[in-house]
Amino acid sequence: MNTPSSKALINKDQKISSWRIFFLSIATVAFIIILWTIGSFKQDPFLDETLSRKGEALSGSKLFKINCVGCHGISAQGFVGPDLHEATQEMSDKKIINQVIRGLTPPMPSFEIDPQSMADLLAYMHSLN
Ligand code: HEC
Repeated sequence: MNTPSSKALINKDQKISSWRIFFLSIATVAFIIILWTIGSFKQDPFLDETLSRKGEALSGSKLFKINCVGCHGISAQGFVGPDLHEATQEMSDKKIINQVIRGLTPPMPSFEIDPQSMADLLAYMHSLN
């Protein structure tokens, strides 16, 4: 049928379906943003565990000599990687932990490290200030 009223009806349907697509897209984007926000607030057990421990700077310096001096220099003065003397002033502990365990900035590798050793390394880095 091609009466004016049926045409109007078809247009109205098309309008509804494009609104529906529009709202579905918005809802999808909102959903993704919500999931992402929840994800970034989610507690990270490794972080919590590490931050709850008291680090030993001396053990930390040993770990540093084994794992980090090749790039950060024997006294953390910087070499391939940056000088770390100010690192704990410029970065939060959380950020430093992520820097060490996640390998976010190649060529620095990610390290598999237990929370106590990580706390020791942090204590060593705090002792450099
Ligand atoms: C293969 C070389 C390499 C090794 C090994 C390495 N790093 Fe790094 N590190 C780097 C480089 C390169 C950067 C700079 C990355 C960037 O931000 O571009 C860096 C950055 C950092 C930073 C951030 C400093 C800042 O001011 O942005 C910290 C903290 C750090 N390293 C700690 C460590 C610790 C602790 C170890 C040992 C467990 C270690 N790194 C081992 C190469 C290395």
